[in-house]
Amino acid sequence: MIIAIDGPAASGKGTLGKRLAHHYGYRHLDTGVIYRAVAWALLEAGADPGDELLAVAAALELDPEKFGNPVLKTQKVGDAASVVSAIPKVRELLVNFQRQFAADPPGAVLDGRDIGTVICPDADVKIFVVADPEVRARRRTLEARARGEEADEAAVLADILKRDERDRNRPVAPLKPAPDAHTLDNTHLDIEAGVRAAIEIVEAVRAGKKPAP
Ligand code: DC
Repeated sequence: MIIAIDGPAASGKGTLGKRLAHHYGYRHLDTGVIYRAVAWALLEAGADPGDELLAVAAALELDPEKFGNPVLKTQKVGDAASVVSAIPKVRELLVNFQRQFAADPPGAVLDGRDIGTVICPDADVKIFVVADPEVRARRRTLEARARGEEADEAAVLADILKRDERDRNRPVAPLKPAPDAHTLDNTHLDIEAGVRAAIEIVEAVRAGKKPAP
């Protein structure tokens, strides 16, 4: 089974993806980390994340061993990832890696922006996670502070809104729900309740009780 999770920045897709994968015994891929790794390669080299040639070179040299680098989690890298991910050739180069991950047994959960629409259009279950921007900014700020980083909530909110705008309006693989995605609004849900709601969706789809919206 393939579970596709998409949604805007800081909507909780990553945590949900990890928890769902654990619940079902599947592998999990946070696809944002791929774009973040490409973006970090450019930032580290002192290059502009919008530099197409360098971004393509970084995508070609992508090294999944480096996905665990904590710097990838930072706001600066997330913002640069939103820029590199709008380059069509970069996206094209990263498709196969993601599809291969999805296809390997026993099953997989992938989260990102275009999983249900482009990467795995035939995914068994598609969930589009949303939450009010203020709530997302609050959660992201607390996460950053828990890692010992300084974070200004208003700046985090502004970054989230800017990224959503860029991710939604790019011509290639924009952030949007697939027509057959089930929306999960976790604005008023804590992590446990969000995970339960997602499992309910998966189980209802599997039992044939939840037709595509
Ligand atoms: O989910 P995230 O915050 O780690 O993603 C960082 C950026 O990467 C996001 O702003 C847009 C881009 N991205 C993408 O274009 N497609 C994906 N499947 C995942 C992330």
